[in-house]
Amino acid sequence: MKLFRNAKSSASGFALAALLSVSVGFLEATPAVAKPPAKAQPAVLTASAIAVADEYSADAAEQIFKEGGNAVDAAVAIAFTLAVTYPEAGNIGGGGFMTLYVDGKPYFLDYRERAPLAATKNMYLDDKGEVIKGMSLYGYRAVGVPGTVDGMWQAQRRFGKLNWKQVLAPAIHYARDGFQVSEQLQQRRDDAAKEFAGKTNFDTYFGNLKQGVNFKQPDLAAVLQRISDQGAKDFYSGKTAGLIAESMRGHGLITRADLQQYKAVWRQPIQADWKGYRVYTAPPPSSGGIGLVQLLKMKADRAADFKDVPLNSPQYIHLIAEIEKRVFADRAQYLGDPDFYKVPVAQLTDDAYIAKRASEVNPETPSDTKSVQPGLGTSMPEKAETTHFSVVDKWGNAVSNTYTVNGYFGSGVVADRTGIVLNDEMDDFSAKPGVANMFGVVGSDANSIEPKKRPLSSMSPTILTKDGKVSLVIGTPGGSRIFTSIFQVINNIYDFDMPLPQAVGAMRFHHQLLPPNTIFWEPYQPIDGELAKQVEAKGYTLKAQNFNGDIQAIKINGNTPEAAADPRGRGVTRIIQ
Ligand code: DON
Repeated sequence: MKLFRNAKSSASGFALAALLSVSVGFLEATPAVAKPPAKAQPAVLTASAIAVADEYSADAAEQIFKEGGNAVDAAVAIAFTLAVTYPEAGNIGGGGFMTLYVDGKPYFLDYRERAPLAATKNMYLDDKGEVIKGMSLYGYRAVGVPGTVDGMWQAQRRFGKLNWKQVLAPAIHYARDGFQVSEQLQQRRDDAAKEFAGKTNFDTYFGNLKQGVNFKQPDLAAVLQRISDQGAKDFYSGKTAGLIAESMRGHGLITRADLQQYKAVWRQPIQADWKGYRVYTAPPPSSGGIGLVQLLKMKADRAADFKDVPLNSPQYIHLIAEIEKRVFADRAQYLGDPDFYKVPVAQLTDDAYIAKRASEVNPETPSDTKSVQPGLGTSMPEKAETTHFSVVDKWGNAVSNTYTVNGYFGSGVVADRTGIVLNDEMDDFSAKPGVANMFGVVGSDANSIEPKKRPLSSMSPTILTKDGKVSLVIGTPGGSRIFTSIFQVINNIYDFDMPLPQAVGAMRFHHQLLPPNTIFWEPYQPIDGELAKQVEAKGYTLKAQNFNGDIQAIKINGNTPEAAADPRGRGVTRIIQ
């Protein structure tokens, strides 16, 4: 079988695979990256499964499973491959979150970007105290210290079965030998290039990203080769660190010291019981896990109101919007980086608190936006692109991973002589209390800028288990739409018994407190015609948005995995025996 997809011929895929097995053997002698042989484990599922953003990363994962890798090995190979073949969001110049379930235990890895040491609270304000438009979105000063390489390194060292070199090999291949550019990728490039024009060096690296072209990235291949040879230390203190710091000098804030001090962090995932399932999802600095648990539980608390209400009917849309209003009021007030700000996680996910919030839902008409305040009081201590993939191995382990450069192609800055697209994650901070960011969400001091702080995220890689076994692995990009999208798909599956592909493909909508009583809909499944009239008659304004997520999900039925990629994207699923 063809091991790696090659834009020109599959024969070279075979040749490459042969070369790889040589280099892998060579590397086993390198102590820093070698792994002891893994113990044989009995399979508990009929197959492994993936739902990923493109065909190249699917091939990479398949290859890793064939070599005996587990879900974590496959996830790391997918992440590095997408950094090459899905450069609008896959990355090594950004950051993300990984929720894992390994040998029956949950884990969460936070490899979110951090603000540079020289960052300051008001760095995006002019002398009148107003936010300077675009400054946190485009160019060198928008960039946070990237976390992806350390995240992948830590995850693979802790849980992977294969050698580090093996999981890097597919990405190096696609960077060095090229991949075929899809129509969607070119479209996204063209859109992003308009935004970056005159502000960044984007076109020097991505000017040739045209549909049908075999796109090679030699600088990025060299970086990946060094990471493969030396591990994460190349990126944080080696040659690559030097090249990133040099690119930034005189333009941005990131220095060698920033990179040297970066560390991904293992945290406790948010855990909640819901309808017989255990939900494991993202803790702060994500808002998404808390948001998802509040959404699921408030809906369960209001089950009587939802009885016989058809999916995506005007009344359903109204009830969900009422719940979302309360979640977003809390998000704006209380959520930020837990290393800098005491986030009241236990209170916000407490059943009695959520029930009280649910009791404030008005089943008839939209609650007045101003009346919906953060539920714990205010005296408490104070464009877009991301991608998600889900992986399950036949041993019953799961990885749910969402990572991002924020906007399409991040800040538009490509670190010179590396081909690394750098993120614009600084926009996820609250540049000024009450002023909305790219996703229209506001924040408080909890999410103000401070050196080494992580900006608040909505990314919510999630795993549901039942009786200790993985049941669902799910996540999506979409900024503040992330956890409302996951919530809707979970409802579709468990409350409306929809088969997985339909649950993922069904209409989604979004409300986030501000703008007041506004329901966002998407062209893929519009709210229009009679439905639109009835939603408007309830007091809502309808607003179109381009994008409401790109869900990648795996569901386990008995001991057989089923995978679904959102028809909104160019995602791919595989069941791998
Ligand atoms: O961390 C966050 O919530 C955002 N930076 C994610 C960006 C995103 O999902 C863009 N995708 N469309």
